[in-house]
Amino acid sequence: MAVPFTAYLFNKKEEIPHLDDDLILLLNEIAAATKEIAGKVRKAGLLGILGSAGKVNVQGEEVQKLDELANEILLENLKNCGKACQITSEEIEDCLVVSESGYTVAFDPLDGSSNIDVNISIGTIFSIHRDSVLKAGKEQIAAGYVIYGPSTMLVLSLGKGVSAFTLDPESGNFLLSHPEVKLPKKGKIYSINEANREKWTEEGLRRFIDFLKEEKYTLRYVGSMVADVHRTLFKGGIFIYPADKKNTSGKLRLLYEASPMAFLIEQAGGMASTGEKPILEVVPEKLHQRVPVILGSKWEVEKCLEFLSNN
Ligand code: AHG
Ligand code: MN
Ligand code: MN
Repeated sequence: MAVPFTAYLFNKKEEIPHLDDDLILLLNEIAAATKEIAGKVRKAGLLGILGSAGKVNVQGEEVQKLDELANEILLENLKNCGKACQITSEEIEDCLVVSESGYTVAFDPLDGSSNIDVNISIGTIFSIHRDSVLKAGKEQIAAGYVIYGPSTMLVLSLGKGVSAFTLDPESGNFLLSHPEVKLPKKGKIYSINEANREKWTEEGLRRFIDFLKEEKYTLRYVGSMVADVHRTLFKGGIFIYPADKKNTSGKLRLLYEASPMAFLIEQAGGMASTGEKPILEVVPEKLHQRVPVILGSKWEVEKCLEFLSNN
């Protein structure tokens, strides 16, 4: 039988010195919370939890009922497990300080909210640091996401590569299905919201996208970062959410979207840049700050940076 998530973590203790029992407990609580969220997502239409919650969050975005429910489930689990000293959520303005030291967790409880009501893949993204959340992404202790797609999958890096687990509906366990995820060096897919093309700040980006079209790339864009990154991780290619005239720092948030996804992509052999510097080098100044995101296979990201430098 495939290795269950908890057993996998205990088996990794020797290889990964910082993987202590507290971190294992914390990761298990996150896994447990996402299983509960998966259960709600899969029957949301029967629970009356689709649609808007009728409020706007700190991001100025309309909150969906499932955003709120996922947030509450994660907060509950993290507070009860007592191993998270600080908790940051996309849905909460300030950082919740539970104790002075220990692990900090930043999460996007439900990513891809615009896709909830049309039954398209969404997810949960999380990032774990030690003691403070305002650290560069390269200092992450662990990062991962759960994608609620045809399968519910948990994708995790503890700093030594990337592994993926598939939720087994019979046992209710996340079981190891992909021991080592490696990003293809080069792909054939690009992923960007081209509706914003004329608003993109960088002329070089328009020229890069035209170059990919001449190279016969195909376009895939789900509109849930978790789904677009998951496909990029497994198939290669490039995902971009650039700065534009409206979102001058891009739309995606550093702490709980760009940074954990950059960690996973680089741990799997890919590359992640803001267009000016590696995402993992950005030291956060504000909890909900946004950064432009260019991530995926090395060949495409380096080519994109080349076009941007010849603006
Ligand atoms: P969230 O639902 O957590 O607010 O995130 C949505 C984000 C991200 O998932 C996705 O890549 C991006 O919004 C899509 O934005 P556009 O609809 O502007 O393309
Ligand atoms: Mn999101
Ligand atoms: Mn969200």
